[in-house]
Amino acid sequence: MLDFNLIAQSGAARAGEFSTAHGNIKTPVFMPVGTQATVKALTPEELEAAGAQIILSNTYHLYLRPGTDIIGRFDGLHRFMHWDRPILTDSGGFQVFSLAKLRKLTEKGYRFQSHIDGSKHMLSPETSIKVQIALNSDIIMCLDQCLEHPATREQAVAALELTSRWARRCKTFWEDRTGRRNHLFGIVQGGMFADLRQRSAEEITAIDFPGYAIGGLSVGEPKELMMEMAAHTLPLLPADRPRYIMGVGTPEDLVELVGLGADMFDCVMPTRNARNGQLFTEQGTINICNARFRDDTGPVDPACDCYTCRHYSLAYLRHLYMAREILAYRLNTIHNVHYYVNLVKAMREAIMAGTFKAFKDAFYAKRGKIEP
Ligand code: GUN
Ligand code: ZN
Repeated sequence: MLDFNLIAQSGAARAGEFSTAHGNIKTPVFMPVGTQATVKALTPEELEAAGAQIILSNTYHLYLRPGTDIIGRFDGLHRFMHWDRPILTDSGGFQVFSLAKLRKLTEKGYRFQSHIDGSKHMLSPETSIKVQIALNSDIIMCLDQCLEHPATREQAVAALELTSRWARRCKTFWEDRTGRRNHLFGIVQGGMFADLRQRSAEEITAIDFPGYAIGGLSVGEPKELMMEMAAHTLPLLPADRPRYIMGVGTPEDLVELVGLGADMFDCVMPTRNARNGQLFTEQGTINICNARFRDDTGPVDPACDCYTCRHYSLAYLRHLYMAREILAYRLNTIHNVHYYVNLVKAMREAIMAGTFKAFKDAFYAKRGKIEP
């Protein structure tokens, strides 16, 4: 078992800990995204230096390229990519939905054509779990059906029902494997309908998983609706299991969602935005292209002790970025991943100290003092 221990609570915010085959995870936790078995621009040593405890990777991409025959030769992702800490893999449902061509959804699974070479594949609950076990991920996710926004009530009902049937198939298939060391998490869907979120939460928790994710958020809906759905669904999940919000969000989103009792997060924002010149700071986000940084000899964030902030000025980072130098992407990513990981770590410390509310007030008080 995963053995989730709740260590402290401050309001609804929780600090916890659980174990995996590749080490313990202290929650709340932010998982940097490493879709192609690499967190873009960083070495595993740099990820560790940023304080990353666990990374997320993607079944869909790694199944298509390089394939599990190759990764299997390394007994899974850890040795293949030289990262010996925990890895969570997403099931592929969300990526088929957002990337694949000519996808066809049936009871069996997703029939789709690769976005890389057009080859034809079937991703079923069973193949998703089989691939995730071959990747030897520490946490594996059920195949689910995520909807775009807006979706009708009928579509949301159909998607949540299919997600429940697939969750049962995932669990059955996983239980039939011997020697498994992964933890299989269930995913709640239900679109933007509060009663359907509740129904999905009831059905998925009845199947019984060691952890639960809330999917189908940040799919084009307004921010208030996303928060409303998360606030409604989080208390419906068992308090003694980790709660994972998939694919969210901004620093503000993380602060709000931890405040509502969420434990785990992943998002491409710190890595993707770093490559677009956007940097996160205690005072808000800045764009390194801004002319006001041309001669700024100070660091990105005086409050940050990352490698980038310890050694480089805004003027130098702006110069590298304007010259499209590879180092710009690396240094920006080092800072942003450090910012996200440490924001969540600071929230954990505040929860342990029983001062989460004060942390949140201070977080907002520091922001908005600079223009982007
Ligand atoms: N990543 C972001 N949202 C989702 C979702 O709804 N399902 C899955 N499997 N992954 C996601
Ligand atoms: Zn920094």
